[in-house]
Amino acid sequence: MPRVKIGVLISGGGTNLQTIIDNTLNGTINGEINLVISNKKEAYGLKRAEAAGIENIFINPKDFGSMEDYNKRLIQEFKIRDVGLIVLAGYLKVLSKEFIESFQYIMNIHPSLIPSFCGKGYYGEKVHEKVLDYGVKVTGATVHFVDEGTDTGPIILQDVVEVKADDTVETLQKRVLEVEHRLLPQAVKLFCDNKLKIEGRRVIISQ
Ligand code: GRF
Repeated sequence: MPRVKIGVLISGGGTNLQTIIDNTLNGTINGEINLVISNKKEAYGLKRAEAAGIENIFINPKDFGSMEDYNKRLIQEFKIRDVGLIVLAGYLKVLSKEFIESFQYIMNIHPSLIPSFCGKGYYGEKVHEKVLDYGVKVTGATVHFVDEGTDTGPIILQDVVEVKADDTVETLQKRVLEVEHRLLPQAVKLFCDNKLKIEGRRVIISQ
């Protein structure tokens, strides 16, 4: 089976990106990252891509008159590289309708058990703050396909993280991130092995 061409969008440290880099380079994932784009110039994820010899570019949203025009440039860059899967790995910008309609498969990693603690305004540390404030006993991470909503697409994989009585945002985020680092490459691998089938809201995983 030919390797899937993957495009990745990042905004920050890129630890999730790193798990895909590692697992494509060691052959676990039948895919190759053809391009990493960041909306933040200082995103350490760009350095991670560079170190792995992966093409990476900073595209500044401020250089465009509108969010739609910025997304047009993203679409163009990924289309000319013929990517078959877009992965949002800690990407914090809203995607335009045109972007979502341009790529059949877009995957996102979110640091909670969707549909809890997700949607507009729920990203990064804010998610864990709300989890602790609410007093839930478990949280976790979710990998899902992206649809026109925010964190609302069909769920691919989830796993649970126990919330401890003495947890802080930092200690909880660290444990959730460890789960993210396991789930995201697993989901990308399943996609690249053609083992994911979307049926309405459900994602069927074939063995
Ligand atoms: C992480 O907190 C993760 O929960 C979310 O984006 C943040 C940045 O992760 N998906 P990364 O280290 O940039 O991959």
